[in-house]
Amino acid sequence: MSTLPAYVPGRKIPGAVVLASNESPYGLLPGVAAVLEAHAAGVSRYPDMGSTQLIEAIAAHHGVGPDRVAVGAGSVEVCGELAAAAVDTDDEVVFGWRAFEAYPIITAVAGGKAVMVPLTANHVHDVDAMVAGVTGRTRLVFLCNPNNPTGTAVGEAELRRLVDGVPEDVLVVIDEAYREYVDPAAVPDAFSLFADRPNVAVTRTFSKAYALAGLRVGYCLATPEVVAAARKCQVPFSVSGLAQAAAIAALGDREEVTRRAKLTIAERERVRGELVAAGFEVPPSQANFVWLPLGERSAAFAEACLAGGVIVRPFPGDGVRVTIGTDEENDAFLAVARRAV
Ligand SMILES: Cc1ncc(COP(=O)(O)O)c(C=O)c1O
Repeated sequence: MSTLPAYVPGRKIPGAVVLASNESPYGLLPGVAAVLEAHAAGVSRYPDMGSTQLIEAIAAHHGVGPDRVAVGAGSVEVCGELAAAAVDTDDEVVFGWRAFEAYPIITAVAGGKAVMVPLTANHVHDVDAMVAGVTGRTRLVFLCNPNNPTGTAVGEAELRRLVDGVPEDVLVVIDEAYREYVDPAAVPDAFSLFADRPNVAVTRTFSKAYALAGLRVGYCLATPEVVAAARKCQVPFSVSGLAQAAAIAALGDREEVTRRAKLTIAERERVRGELVAAGFEVPPSQANFVWLPLGERSAAFAEACLAGGVIVRPFPGDGVRVTIGTDEENDAFLAVARRAV
């Protein structure tokens, strides 16, 4: 147990600008607040364990049947459900590194062994090396697209090389937590490419663009067989009634979600441009954050930001991830970053 890696959450300090957890800076969607109030009294009862209406709403949103959708308390639980379903003791789980820091934890909790494949020099997933990393013991591959924390994404050709290169009895989980911030012309939605592959699951979340990080709702789209296995591995009642109602309302606020995502994308491009002009290396991002590969300078840079009242997310020795906030928050970050360069 002592060997299990621990999840390190982004810091929160009252009064500081928080750009450490890839949350939406715009607060609750307008359609969600009233729904939360209306459902608050219901929390003395257990929720619908099957999240029936939520699953129907997600399925309708994607134009598929409800048997193609499994939910969980955040997409991190859904990734855990899929790993629990696919991985036995000492099986191997392949993923790029650095990627979402929950993957090594999920792998260890499932009893598996992590096979971490270095990103390319451009901080992008090396799908050919990932395929080469698959052995007879591999049961699961995670592809984070776009990748947390680098923001980089792979396109259709790489997605196809990965999925085509992996045997059909290995589950490929494509984690699209940041899908709403992607340029769809450059990065296709993986479910539209692989809906009928028996070994592909695509995960999404309400925590980022839908501004519901604190309520914990995520889901996967997969074949009915994979969905049924994931549902069996869900912690009973893990998605609260409040969360189910809020997520349904959030799906109904699609126009506002799109409007906000556009603001974040425009700010991301502005922040990246200003950082590059100030002398930072910043890989192009398709997410709601940017990555500064500062290596050994990462911890000191994050400390300097903190001293200037801005919390960013350092990965010591590797880089710093900075969430895109409101225009004012981004300006506050850019001011401290220019001083710290
Ligand atoms: C790539 C990726 N996947 C999944 C998650 C999990 O999000 P949640 O469990 O809130 O849906 C995150 C959160 O930061 C993430 O970055």
